[in-house]
Amino acid sequence: MTVLVLGGAGYIGSHAVDRLIENGYDVTVIDNLITGHRASINKKAHFYEGDIRDEKFMNSVFDKEDIEGVIHFAAFSVVPESMKDPLKYFDNNTGGMIKLLEIMNDHNVKKIVFSSTAATYGEPKQIPIKETDPQVPTNPYGESKLAMEKIMHWADLAYGIKFVSLRYFNVAGAKDNGSIGEDHNPETHLIPIILQVAAGERDQLSIFGDDYPTKDGTNIRDYVHVIDLVDAHILALKYLSKGNDSDAFNLGSSNGFSNKEMLDAARKVTGKEIPAVMAPRRAGDPSTLIASSDKARNVLGWNPQYDDIEEIIKTAWNWKQQHSNGYEN
Ligand code: UFG
Repeated sequence: MTVLVLGGAGYIGSHAVDRLIENGYDVTVIDNLITGHRASINKKAHFYEGDIRDEKFMNSVFDKEDIEGVIHFAAFSVVPESMKDPLKYFDNNTGGMIKLLEIMNDHNVKKIVFSSTAATYGEPKQIPIKETDPQVPTNPYGESKLAMEKIMHWADLAYGIKFVSLRYFNVAGAKDNGSIGEDHNPETHLIPIILQVAAGERDQLSIFGDDYPTKDGTNIRDYVHVIDLVDAHILALKYLSKGNDSDAFNLGSSNGFSNKEMLDAARKVTGKEIPAVMAPRRAGDPSTLIASSDKARNVLGWNPQYDDIEEIIKTAWNWKQQHSNGYEN
């Protein structure tokens, strides 16, 4: 029996594949390598290059492998891009989910762990955000993922496909030994951009907005280490294997750090000056996002190990120092 990881060559997917293999699972990976990196996939996984919307290709993998459950990371995830090209997001993300569930149902695969997002909540009504809070996305990326959650709900009722939706907050860091890490092109995320400045690859950081209603005026985010995050996926698989009902869980640290605090922490970790300037707000940025992760802790037994933001940044810096051009060297 194998666990099928869709999008296993991406940042989070590659860490999940690696961690599953470390935990003794047999792992099959599907990735179209549009944003993923072949070099990030643990060599012990069975890798198939292809697209989840390609029915013939997907059927061939499901026919060949004895799949017990699916972890689904394969999606586009750049918020500003989704504002410019929403149909790309609904086609790949939402359309891909419909095709996937059809194929799972045809092959009698009834368990899926899904990579959802805090972006399904939109502008929060209360902090910390609970799973029962209203989901009103403010961008097509979040909307595409919310639609995927809803499609899984109806597929559960009709075909008995059980799901766990894991709503990530800000995922950060890398495997401790620096062998795999975060490599996006173009990079849009705060920590990798700060570290590009620290490494001398960019002149300065632009902090998007310092007039938010927060302690220092900059946005506040909840950072969760990628290894803690992928461990929650393994717990979710176990939860489904025990015959539990479909459900959704937030994954965050429940601590908020402002963009200025992140910059200060990165300066401390790297020992570099990291020049920064204030810039206008970025469209669609909520002021503060902090998760309540009590449900994941209580129900899944999730026990995140990284509770120090400097430790998280340190793992990203370690990866960066070993891979100045990401997976290109
Ligand atoms: N930021 C800067 N300068 C930069 C890059 C980012 O100031 O050069 C700021 C952003 O404005 C934001 C914070 O850093 O305030 C974090 O931004 P990221 O782009 O790293 O992450 P987001 O919070 O925008 O997005 C993350 C995920 C998305 C997900 C979203 C949920 O990357 O996929 O959380 O709200 F949709």
